Amino acid sequence: MTERKTVKDYIRTIVDFPHEGIMFRDVTTLFSDPRGFRICVDQMLDPYAGQRIDKVVGLEARGFILGGAIAHQLGCGFVPIRKKGKLPGTTISQDYKLEYGEAIVEIHDDALQPGETVLLVDDLLATGGTAGAGIKLLKRLGAEIVGCAFIIDLPELGGRKLLEDLDMDVHVLCE
Ligand code: PRP
Ligand code: ADE
Repeated sequence: MTERKTVKDYIRTIVDFPHEGIMFRDVTTLFSDPRGFRICVDQMLDPYAGQRIDKVVGLEARGFILGGAIAHQLGCGFVPIRKKGKLPGTTISQDYKLEYGEAIVEIHDDALQPGETVLLVDDLLATGGTAGAGIKLLKRLGAEIVGCAFIIDLPELGGRKLLEDLDMDVHVLCE
């Protein structure tokens, strides 16, 4: 009998995107496959299925695709964290370091109530800069972060350790 494909098998690598030397892990091939997308969403939410999650919070951009599907499956709401200047209401902002330079992410200041439980999701954990900034925003709103779920971890970049040092429960499907 042939082995069934794993989540990792659906992900393709684009060499030298967006810069020379970067091996870009492209999840569009995973998302476009009906079985691939389903097992990915199911595996990301699996550890949290029995827990109280009030909101799934997705990081722009691929965290929106995953977060919407996970929130639907868990029967809870969805909240976006966006790059600066995209959200229409009153926001709070957090800067973070990129490989070169800095960026800013934002959340609506009324998106979460103190004590609400959240699951933070994104496609990929590299340096942890993006997720770390998201965690700071969630803490500033008084949310309780139940976990942080990603499809891919790039362990050599240290993001998982950074999040675990913040006492986060980190769930990844592959490295
Ligand atoms: C990618 C990825 C994560 C982030 C991870 O997004 O989707 O959000 O990088 O990197 P880090 O752990 O070093 O912060 P990107 O910044 O390329 O933005 P995009 O989703 O708008 O393409
Ligand atoms: N974000 C940071 N590094 C990445 C990579 N290698 N592939 C996809 N997204 C990324």
